[in-house]
Amino acid sequence: MTGAYGSRREFLRTVGVAGGAGMLWATMGALGLAPDARAAQPGPAYVPPRAGDFTGGRKAPRVVVLGAGIAGLTTAYELAKAGYQCRILEAKPRPGGRNWTVRSGTEERELGGGTQRAEFSAGQYLNAGPARIAQHMVTLDYCRELGVPIEPFANQNGDAYVHLDQVGAPLRHRTVKADAHGYVSELLAKAVDRDALDKELTAEDRERLLAFLGDFGAIGKRADDWAYRGGPRRGYRVPPGAAGVTGEPYGPLPSLSEYLARGTGRYLSFEVDYDQAMMMFQPVGGMDRIVRAFVDRVGERRISYGSVVREIRDRAAGVEVRYTDARGRERVERADFCVAALPPHVLARTAHNLGSAVQSALRTPAPLAVGKLGLEYRRRWWEEDHRIYGGITETDLPLTHVWYPSHGFHSERGVLVGYYHYRQDALDFGKLAPRERIARAVALGERIHGPAHREELASGFAVAWHRIPHIEGGWIEWPENSVAAYDLLNEPAGRVYFAGDWLTHYIGWQAGAIGSARRTVSLLHERSVRA
Ligand code: ALA
Repeated sequence: MTGAYGSRREFLRTVGVAGGAGMLWATMGALGLAPDARAAQPGPAYVPPRAGDFTGGRKAPRVVVLGAGIAGLTTAYELAKAGYQCRILEAKPRPGGRNWTVRSGTEERELGGGTQRAEFSAGQYLNAGPARIAQHMVTLDYCRELGVPIEPFANQNGDAYVHLDQVGAPLRHRTVKADAHGYVSELLAKAVDRDALDKELTAEDRERLLAFLGDFGAIGKRADDWAYRGGPRRGYRVPPGAAGVTGEPYGPLPSLSEYLARGTGRYLSFEVDYDQAMMMFQPVGGMDRIVRAFVDRVGERRISYGSVVREIRDRAAGVEVRYTDARGRERVERADFCVAALPPHVLARTAHNLGSAVQSALRTPAPLAVGKLGLEYRRRWWEEDHRIYGGITETDLPLTHVWYPSHGFHSERGVLVGYYHYRQDALDFGKLAPRERIARAVALGERIHGPAHREELASGFAVAWHRIPHIEGGWIEWPENSVAAYDLLNEPAGRVYFAGDWLTHYIGWQAGAIGSARRTVSLLHERSVRA
């Protein structure tokens, strides 16, 4: 790629690495690369269907829902509030889709690979898909409504590390951040002081900005001394203590030039993202507690597992879905409407009569390779040896993100996320057998944390989402100029509706799946009530 597009691509890659899918999507919208025409429009308040909405002896229609992921489950749960008869066809032997908590005995056979079996000890688990919920997300409303207890998830932790191989020993997140604030403040204060920003600032603005920078960067506060010299914000090698122990600050301080050359400052931006920054939450006991609660409400008997959809037929009077059931028998499910809550790349392989425009739209989004590794340790060495309690270490090693567990503090064992990575890293690791993925990740992790990363390991489970049957991706990305496809699939094709996080501006989040399902429910219900 060359020119503006090439550099944009590079910029997006960097943003995506630091910020995750939501950040990437928002940035694409801001650059005019993604469908964002409706991003600024507030959606109508959601009104759940009610039992009394069908009057005059009319019955709620039958709906076949494809996929028991969060979008499919939300659809069935919400429609049931008004008495809709829903049947969910789920290709996998379990509900939840990407909301998948791996525990002792969990088995998965990857596409083109062998079967992996989790050997975690009792009570230990890996949230292989969604693992954190922001406070503003509708997902928390469902936790409340469904009675799923939640606990804090430490997303950002100043005591976690930034580890860049070229820098050598890992640096605490707080150290990297103190230097970023310090040097940016020093430079800006000098620029103001040399009148370089007089076009932008009034005399009053100047004074206020300088006062702000003094605190923001912990820099000198005099015209002849705006220097950043480090200080306690960077942390201590020897912490301050009793009597004469003043503490030994962490050093040496890199020069500005050395700091910029390290590039560590580029790993800080995620903490200010809307979907990532704040303290977050997780269900107590595993993310799939949400799935369990949905399934209990919807009714296990309404879900047919092992049911692989082969064909969707939209007819004048209803829909027909042909599928293969768990015993390999060909079956047909008939209903008044269909809500297809499957990944678009899976739907695109399914026969249908919804037309070539729908087919080409379904082919438009591209699935993203994503990998996540759970490593169970016999000892919580990250707490005992490193004094890290939750949070994330960022690294330029192909591990990308290493997560420390936000629950079970001070207990004996714990599951560390040994890597959470995307794109080429995920493809490279995904090609290896799970045992080799674990060995490679542990060897890399040792560079950050030392020998405990290898020596204390009990077992691991390595998920390559792009190789998980019937899902085949961590999430999707819409390419440039895909507004028409996005808009088309956000409307029903006859009696067939689509739902999923991929049809929202909250891709890769359960909040997206729920938001899309609710919108589909509203459209379908409005039509049914009017009919
Ligand atoms: N929602 C995903 C995450 O938290 C992308 O990383």
